[in-house]
Amino acid sequence: MTYEQAREVLQRLGQEHVLRFWSQLDQGGRAGLLKQIEELDLRTIERIRTLLGSPAAREDATAHKDIQPAPVVSLRGGEEREPRRIGEQALREGKVGILLVAGGQGTRLGYDGPKGTYALGPVSGASLFEIHARKILALEKAYSAKVPFYIMTSEGNDADTRRFFQSCGYFGLDPERVKFFVQGTLPAFWPDGRMVLESPGRLFLAPDGHGGILTALDRTGMLADMERRGLTTLFYFQVDNPMVEIADPVFIGCHLKHGAEMSLKVCAKRDPAEGLGVVVLREGRQAVVEYTELTDAQKQARRPDGELPFKFGSVAIHVFSLAFLRQEVAAGLPLHPAHKKVPYCDESGTTCKPDKSNACKFEKFIFDALPDASAALLLEFAREEEFAPVKNAEGEDSPATSRMAMMEKFARWFAAAGVRVPRDDAGRLTCRIEVDPVYAHSAETLQARLPAGFRIDGDVLLGKA
Ligand code: UD1
Repeated sequence: MTYEQAREVLQRLGQEHVLRFWSQLDQGGRAGLLKQIEELDLRTIERIRTLLGSPAAREDATAHKDIQPAPVVSLRGGEEREPRRIGEQALREGKVGILLVAGGQGTRLGYDGPKGTYALGPVSGASLFEIHARKILALEKAYSAKVPFYIMTSEGNDADTRRFFQSCGYFGLDPERVKFFVQGTLPAFWPDGRMVLESPGRLFLAPDGHGGILTALDRTGMLADMERRGLTTLFYFQVDNPMVEIADPVFIGCHLKHGAEMSLKVCAKRDPAEGLGVVVLREGRQAVVEYTELTDAQKQARRPDGELPFKFGSVAIHVFSLAFLRQEVAAGLPLHPAHKKVPYCDESGTTCKPDKSNACKFEKFIFDALPDASAALLLEFAREEEFAPVKNAEGEDSPATSRMAMMEKFARWFAAAGVRVPRDDAGRLTCRIEVDPVYAHSAETLQARLPAGFRIDGDVLLGKA
């Protein structure tokens, strides 16, 4: 892109100020700024300017007035047999791929590095990435299938993530089927709609949210890669949950049987304040409303029987049809504003760090695709089996609670196999337990593999050298 072309684009968007330090930039600085301008998502920036220019539109983007609870499907004993068969067949036929979003920054956890590299295995210290990758390897072995693994990173953690997988030998997966792609970015905006310059030659850019996955999949050729491999169905999850049942055949089977374009696993919220997006009906369509966008009255409301009306939370475990993902690239997801402290460059060209929110960042959320689905399924699951995320350094949703939930799940597998699990008088485990997913990925597969007379006398790590 030339200077003239950049000026023309910026003029059209009312952003000429971006070039105001041009004469002071050296050659490298000029090239860097032109590259940033060239890569801007112009369509989204125009939408943001309209949003900022219209208070009514801004309010509409986040107000959720007329919402009702959404209907949720709960499977009872025996009802999972047929969906399991359908899901297993799709896996065996190589129709299923895995999508992981790992572009976030792990700020709340206080961990410096891609969150997926965090050592969480209760005995092995396996990283979150290793736990996920070994589950995919277990699927490939169980169904004699190829299961491609697509991982979304961000500019800030892409190189570290790739290096980590490489240095760990891709945890046994075929590197040809582990595909990394980088999510896009969006500028921050002053209240008057101008983009924030961080320094004379640099726009401030931040990741565009996990909803950015749609444009990123398209831009990086990953959708085409999925089509080339003959995939029809994508299982989507977040990096922070080591308990996720990746490509759960029952879930995939329910999605396919229902003819759904998008499906979500949901569970009852632990308490009204838990940070889960809730599933709702809005204008007759299923939707997810993020917890930060519900009013306190909506979060705390109770029905006459004491239940929360907005009881079911989405834990960001989804299944998509590939055709629907392709369709949604063109649709363009809504934008969610967040007022943040954004470093900016003052009139003299000096970068300043504000001590309170000064500008608006925008993110897209993947669950906003839900209302566009012609058919969608919300499936209830048991939280203790599949959800124990690592969000905070301490307290709820921390490494300690997540490791304990993993160990309790393994303990249930051992108990089902007739192995005594040592506990103290208060019922707490007195040793640490871990099973590598490739050794066993369910109570049944563990039972089938355990040597006769197996006993637990201390810490157990099955399936690792
Ligand atoms: C998220 C969901 C919430 C859900 C909860 C379940 C959002 C906005 N909210 O909350 O509805 O109930 O998880 O645990 O997602 N990520 C990217 N790129 C980004 C931003 C995030 O890849 O630009 C990834 C992160 O790496 C992570 C996931 O998205 O894997 C979730 O991000 P996070 O900000 O931690 O969401 P939560 O607030 O915990």
